[in-house]
Amino acid sequence: MDGTRGGGRGMIPPFSAALRDDEIAVMLAATAEIARSGRFVLGPHTEAFEAAVAAMAGTRHAAATSSGSTALEVVFRAIGVSGRTVLVPANTNYATAASALAAGARVRLYDAGLYPDLDDLRANLSADVAAVVVVHIGGYLSPDLPQIVSLCDDAGVALIEDAAHAHGSTLENRGAAGSFGIAAAFSFFATKVVTAGEGGAITTDDNAIDAAARIYRNQGKDDTGLHVVTGGSWRITELGAALARTRLTHLADDLIRRRNIIDRYTEYLTALTFPTLHGQVSGHKAIAILDTGADRERLRRTVSERGIILARGVYEQPLHRQPVFADLAAGRAFPVADGFADTHICLPLWPGMDDDTVDRIIGAVTNY
Ligand SMILES: Cc1ncc(COP(=O)(O)O)c(C=O)c1O
Repeated sequence: MDGTRGGGRGMIPPFSAALRDDEIAVMLAATAEIARSGRFVLGPHTEAFEAAVAAMAGTRHAAATSSGSTALEVVFRAIGVSGRTVLVPANTNYATAASALAAGARVRLYDAGLYPDLDDLRANLSADVAAVVVVHIGGYLSPDLPQIVSLCDDAGVALIEDAAHAHGSTLENRGAAGSFGIAAAFSFFATKVVTAGEGGAITTDDNAIDAAARIYRNQGKDDTGLHVVTGGSWRITELGAALARTRLTHLADDLIRRRNIIDRYTEYLTALTFPTLHGQVSGHKAIAILDTGADRERLRRTVSERGIILARGVYEQPLHRQPVFADLAAGRAFPVADGFADTHICLPLWPGMDDDTVDRIIGAVTNY
């Protein structure tokens, strides 16, 4: 398997997670070393990975977990949302809401497209709200984040970042994804900017949340080996931690390349609207908005005939349109989420793309 997804021979895929030769060499050495040591979890690779994630987010702590979903659930459990309301944006992944529900919260959706709709967020901040989740869709940080931080501070409500897409994203002069809320959850799933295959991490400056996270992820066991809370087997593997750490060592270079590609798309694809950038983007997705009335399926078909696979967007079906969450949305409208879901596309993007590939995509999308 070469780490690319979908498509036939010669097709340009939406992304590639294939390892570089130098990474393969590091991984083979790490695999042999881990196999010889017999230590497959909670060892030196996990610790080194956690230190690298904390450095990336600029936080005091990072605790690794088995996935972004379990990172979120651990945060919700650690801050204690059971029986209380968590505000979740309508435009996000299933896991953002499912993890809050699993931790015993009531979930209420607020409207959000690429960014949270501030008015709707404000309108939903009632007394029963324990936490607000902000999701950095595609790795783009909302320019309103400082305002959202103040809003939550004033209301005495915990702000949690779902930073699953936002490795290395920053907001100009304000800091990095993972450092805005009381805690943040990153995903290191196979499709993410930095992958462990499966993995997650919780970043926080809060000593108590970090300590609790380490207990929750290890079946709720404290240092004495007693089960003191209802946790789970939510540890990352040493192999996964070694893989993700290898990729983190060149994240800074990858971000520059991803940004160059987004800039090139923005310069040449003038019929599309690209989000204004307010700092570094992780480049998890290259998001563009189509003109009103443009036919997204026709665009997909045409560029596919020209050898390019356009992946589904992030997300074309927001949570209020998902059958499992029908009761969360009952009777409410989410026009911002619907507008974004129905009009955006994600152009192919991975750091190993060469300029010829980028130009081929630009040529195919132009005049579709
Ligand atoms: C916004 C968002 N949050 C959470 C998750 C869950 O992460 P994981 O797949 O690592 O459990 C994802 C996964 O794709 C995601 O996109």
